[in-house]
Amino acid sequence: MANIPLRNGGPAARIAVIPGDGIGKEVTPEAVKVLRAVAAAGKRALEFVEFDWGADKYLREGVSLPAGAVEMLRDEFDAILFGALGDPRVPSNQHAADILLGLRFKLDLYVNARPVELLHERLTPLRDRKEQDVRIMVVRENTEGLYVGIGGFFKKGTADEIDKSNAMTFAHDLWQRVFQEVRQEYADIESRHLYIDTLAMEIVRDPRQFDVIVTCNLFGDIISDLGAQLAGGLGLAPSGNIHPGRTSLFEPVHGSAPNIAGKGIANPLGSVLTAGMLLEFLDWKAEATAVHSGVKEALFKNYLTPDLGGAKKTTEVGDWLAERVAKSLVP
Ligand code: NAD
Ligand code: IPM
Ligand code: MN
Repeated sequence: MANIPLRNGGPAARIAVIPGDGIGKEVTPEAVKVLRAVAAAGKRALEFVEFDWGADKYLREGVSLPAGAVEMLRDEFDAILFGALGDPRVPSNQHAADILLGLRFKLDLYVNARPVELLHERLTPLRDRKEQDVRIMVVRENTEGLYVGIGGFFKKGTADEIDKSNAMTFAHDLWQRVFQEVRQEYADIESRHLYIDTLAMEIVRDPRQFDVIVTCNLFGDIISDLGAQLAGGLGLAPSGNIHPGRTSLFEPVHGSAPNIAGKGIANPLGSVLTAGMLLEFLDWKAEATAVHSGVKEALFKNYLTPDLGGAKKTTEVGDWLAERVAKSLVP
């Protein structure tokens, strides 16, 4: 799928599991189920420790990201498998900012790798596009941009106040300069700069133009949802928040989906593909490939949840995949 920078590639790994809120609590156990099966079949040791950080704990105890959590994750775990955060009872989304953005920033997970990969041609809303036409690695800058909360107000407190805290004139000067410098070093890679509005248009008009898209935090957030839709929707989109060589965090692109939470119908494939990225990060190549192939098989055999036109429950898809993937690893 991608060349993800590695953690260590050893035979054993420790994974922190943070299911979070809503469907995060439903899809993450399915990804863990698949990982457990894969580890057993591949004779690898995976140890999981689950953390109950999310809206319930925040509302109950006022604790979002507990003190010492960042150091603990950094020192004691190879990777983090994350679900989603967001709960209607916390309109400010403060706990999500503290936990998710807190971990991205404090673990310095500056690469957000969000592959857009069409796994079955019927899944794209684009006309006449095949699998090989939609294969893009979106690389989102993950620790800076508008997310860091710096900037000023324009005409605050006056009738002309504008609700926009950044000055776009200066926003991307550094990006442009560094891009022009770095591209000189890689003359064999065809590269060009596009403005975000043009990119949004071009990625829909002809996604074959792009193998890799590198963009800033906010644009990457938007483009990765757009990309997800070109490849079957949010239920299928995986991502990795990575600092090469350090403890990194893997999560599906989707959120907590309060509109379907608790019904047992959330699509676990985004989370399972995310677990596959985690395996790639550990350099467990055969296992990562087995997970990816298992998801493709589910798509080809229509063993799917309702968002993709199937009638299966979240747990049924997870059970089926765990069994298939494990079988495929046994010689
Ligand atoms: P969402 O991704 O939760 O849902 C958008 C739409 O996609 C909904 O119709 C939902 O039902 C559907 N969907 C998403 N994942 C699905 C899956 N696995 N299977 C089937 N359908 C799926 O986005 P939203 O509704 O804008 O946000 C809901 C909450 O999640 C908000 O609080 C938001 O802040 C939060 N959020 C969190 C993350 C994250 O934790 N990384 C990402 C995005 C949104
Ligand atoms: C994502 C989400 C987050 C983001 C939110 C929940 C803070 O949309 O991971 O794509 O904006 O990065
Ligand atoms: Mn998003």
